[in-house]
Amino acid sequence: MKLAINGGAKIFTDPLVDWPLWDEKEMKALQRVLESGKWGSLHGEEVFEFEKEFARFQDADFAIACSSGTTALESSLRALGLQAGDEVILPAYTFVASATAILINGAVPVFVDIDPKTYNIDPNLIEAAITEKTRAIMPVHFAGRPADLDAINQIARKNDLFVIEDAAQAWGSAWRGRKVGAASDFGCFSFQSSKNINCAEGGIILTNDEEHANLARSYVNCGRVEGGIWYEHYHLGSNLRLTEFQGAILRSQLDRYPAHLQQRQTAVARLNERIAEIPGLSTLKSDERITANSCHLFIFRYDSAAFDEIGKNAFIEALRGEGVPCSGGYSIPLYEQPIFKNKSFGPFTHLLKERIDVSALHLKNTHSACYDQALWLPQAVLLNDENTMDRIGDAIVKIYENRQELY
Ligand SMILES: Cc1ncc(COP(=O)(O)O)c(C=O)c1O
Repeated sequence: MKLAINGGAKIFTDPLVDWPLWDEKEMKALQRVLESGKWGSLHGEEVFEFEKEFARFQDADFAIACSSGTTALESSLRALGLQAGDEVILPAYTFVASATAILINGAVPVFVDIDPKTYNIDPNLIEAAITEKTRAIMPVHFAGRPADLDAINQIARKNDLFVIEDAAQAWGSAWRGRKVGAASDFGCFSFQSSKNINCAEGGIILTNDEEHANLARSYVNCGRVEGGIWYEHYHLGSNLRLTEFQGAILRSQLDRYPAHLQQRQTAVARLNERIAEIPGLSTLKSDERITANSCHLFIFRYDSAAFDEIGKNAFIEALRGEGVPCSGGYSIPLYEQPIFKNKSFGPFTHLLKERIDVSALHLKNTHSACYDQALWLPQAVLLNDENTMDRIGDAIVKIYENRQELY
C-alpha cells in the first residue's frame, strides 16, 4: 500500500497552511489603537485611512468599511433602492450570503448556471433570466477570478439594470488592467478570517458614485448623514461600523498584500502547469482579459472517468491523507440549501413564499461542480514556494497512479 490513507508514507508531514499571518506590524498597530483610547471608528483615523488606502488600491473613488462581506452586500443592494419583490440575478455556485443579502431586502434571487470553464456566472444565460421585475445582476468573482465584466456590464446597460459585484474573494483582481469592484455600481469585499486580507470579521463597499456612497455610508451608520446631527437618522440603517482595532489590522494586512498577491499568482501558474500533465484533472480556462487574480482558492476539476469512476470525495480524502488540505468546496448548489426548502425568509416569508420556488431547479454545471468536479485548495497553501507546488503535483500523481487502492 502506497497511499498515506492506507498506511503509506505521507508526502507532506508538516502543515502546508500557516494562517493568519501577522508580525510586529499588527502588534504595533493594535498597541497604537489601544493606547490612543480611540477604539471606535467615529473617533479615530484607522478605519478612515484604511478606506482611503483600499479605495486607492482597488481603483475606486469611494470606500465604506462595514462589519462583513455579507452586510456590505446587504447595504449596497439597499443603497441601489431595491424594493421588496424585485429580482436580482446571480450564480448558484457561491456562498449563501450572495443570496441572503437579496432576501434580507425582500427581493428575489434568480439563479443562473455557471460556465464550467470559469466557474463564474455564464453571461450567455443572463438575458433569458431577465423579467420586468429584474433590477440588478450580481456577478460573483469566484475564487478571485473576475467574471466577464464586458458581457455583464453590456447586458446591464442594454436592459437598464444595476450591477453589484460580489467581490468578497477578489482583493487586487483586475479585468483588463482595472481592479474589480468599482467597474460597476457597487463592489463588495470580505475581510473574514479565511480571507487573503483579514481582520477576523469585516467588509468594504466600493463605488464611484457619490450618491450611492453616501447612502451606503448612512446604512452602515444608523441612518446618519454626513455633517448631520448625532441624534438625527434619515434612513433605515443599522450599526455595521468596524472598530479601530480592525481598521489598524487591515492597514497592516493591506501593506503586506501586494507581495502576497504576486506569490499566490506564481504558485497558481506552477500548479496549473503540473495539473495539466495529470489525466482526469483540469484547471479553469485562461483568459487574457484577467490581468490580476487574487487566487483566493486554487480551483481544479476532477473527472472520475479517468480515475476508474472513483468519486471526488475519495480523491479528496486520499489527497488530504498526503497532507494537502484539499476540499470539495460548496457541497450543494445554493438553490438546494434548506432555506429554500423551508422558505424561511424572515419578515418576507409571506411575501416571497409563492414567488420563490426552486424545488424543480437543476443547473447542470453548478450541480456537477458541487457534486462531481470542483476541488479547492485554500489561499494560504499558495504562499508556499514553487518546490512545494511541485510536491503537491507529486501527491496528485501518486493518487492517480495508485487509484486502485481506492476501489
Ligand atoms: C462569495 C462570497 N460572498 C459573500 C461572502 C460573505 O462575506 P462575510 O463572510 O465577510 O460575511 C463571502 C465570504 O465567505 C463569499 O465568499
